[in-house]
Amino acid sequence: MKNYRYCFKKLLKFIPAGFIAVMLISYGFPHKDSVEKSIRCLNLTNISCPRCLPQSARHIVPEKKTLCLKLSGRLGNNLFQIASVFGIARAKDMHFTLKYSQHLKHLKEIFKIESLLVNISCPENFITDVKHCSFSNVVLKYPNNKDYLMYGYFQSWLYFFSVEPEIRTMFTFQSKIRDEAQNILRNITQFHHQKYSLTNNNSMTYVGIHIRRGDFLKERNVKLGYKTAPALYFENAMEYYRKQFTNYIFIVCTDDIEWSTKNLGHKSTYYVHEAFYIDFAVLSMCNHSIISVGSFSWWSAWLANGQTVYYPHPFEKNTYLETKFSSHTRDYFPLDWIPIDI
Ligand SMILES: *[C@@H]1O[C@H](CO)[C@@H](O)[C@H](O)[C@H]1NC(C)=O
Ligand SMILES: *[C@@H]1O[C@H](CO)[C@@H](O)[C@H](O)[C@H]1NC(C)=O
Ligand SMILES: *[C@@H]1O[C@H](CO)[C@@H](O)[C@H](O)[C@H]1NC(C)=O
Ligand SMILES: *[C@@H]1O[C@H](CO)[C@@H](O)[C@H](O)[C@H]1NC(C)=O
Ligand SMILES: *[C@@H]1O[C@H](CO)[C@@H](O)[C@H](O)[C@H]1NC(C)=O
Ligand SMILES: *[C@@H]1O[C@H](CO)[C@@H](O)[C@H](O)[C@H]1NC(C)=O
Repeated sequence: MKNYRYCFKKLLKFIPAGFIAVMLISYGFPHKDSVEKSIRCLNLTNISCPRCLPQSARHIVPEKKTLCLKLSGRLGNNLFQIASVFGIARAKDMHFTLKYSQHLKHLKEIFKIESLLVNISCPENFITDVKHCSFSNVVLKYPNNKDYLMYGYFQSWLYFFSVEPEIRTMFTFQSKIRDEAQNILRNITQFHHQKYSLTNNNSMTYVGIHIRRGDFLKERNVKLGYKTAPALYFENAMEYYRKQFTNYIFIVCTDDIEWSTKNLGHKSTYYVHEAFYIDFAVLSMCNHSIISVGSFSWWSAWLANGQTVYYPHPFEKNTYLETKFSSHTRDYFPLDWIPIDI
């Protein structure tokens, strides 16, 4: 009975008062059993998919349409897509679901996002973004009385800052990955303590550094306008944190260890090179971040949720990539992130 009341209260939030009045006048009070059955269904689907409810229960849920997201690209792209389309759906008072795909299967192994997995067929009519790395009103302007397939990059924090707590809950690591990342940090800390004869009481500040180079240096990408951050940027960024903290460790994840070991200082600097999702988890468990380019960098910092230092020239001037950003690039880089220019 307690559950029933709890659920019913929860359910009431989703039903406009006028609707209930009309329902009561037309049909009398809804039968308790049918309400309970519907609530069970709502619980199962986490109110994310009215179409998944049995026909008999649909009248209980106000008719909302659904944004169905088709994922594309890799980890960082997928996180932008999920966060942004979730935010857009919320802003437009629509439901959010993910189209089942291989991407999703992999994401599920990394994050606890089971509650979002609904296997339904997505609509054909689709909406996409034009400027991948900026906020666009246009994708918010379509009417919300139709289901849509969402396909694009949506790489702007402006799409989802209003649902930040929910996004953080959604992107919680699976325990196995979290534990492995924690072990790595612990191991490095122990090693560091021994090396510098520190006591375990010295509280440590972890600064994650992500250095993306590899694919960004390929001729094709250079032509499109992709850039990498230069050595001096990392040096200045590390100095920024050295000035603030006494006991710190830099944790570096990179696809170019050779360049990094040659160009970065060595003191209190440790390299982690495991599966990409372990590196990602380690970076996002650090207290603060130094990022380079690309959405993997971006998300490791957003999840770490401390101070973030970034390289403010993500593209070469007069290139294709430049056309994907807003002129000030602040649609892409959150306002409290700190640019370090050189
Ligand atoms: C629905 O979920 C809530 C909390 O998630 C739970 O307390 C309740 O027992 C569930 N109700 C039913 C009918 O399954
Ligand atoms: C429902 O989904 C939201 C995110 O969409 C999540 O925060 C919440 O914990 C989920 N609730 C249940 C009962 O699964
Ligand atoms: C999703 O639904 C389709 C069609 O109903 C089915 O072929 C597919 O196996 C389902 N996938 C999962 C993971 O349940
Ligand atoms: C722990 O650190 C030591 C020294 O750096 C290293 O040799 C070892 O492989 C590490 N173990 C794990 C589980 O990371
Ligand atoms: C470290 O902490 C332990 C207990 O928390 C305490 O007994 C010890 O004196 C501390 N050592 C130093 C050097 O502060
Ligand atoms: C810094 O990060 C470590 C590792 O995730 C965490 O245990 C610690 O609580 C963090 N410190 C602060 C001050 O947030």
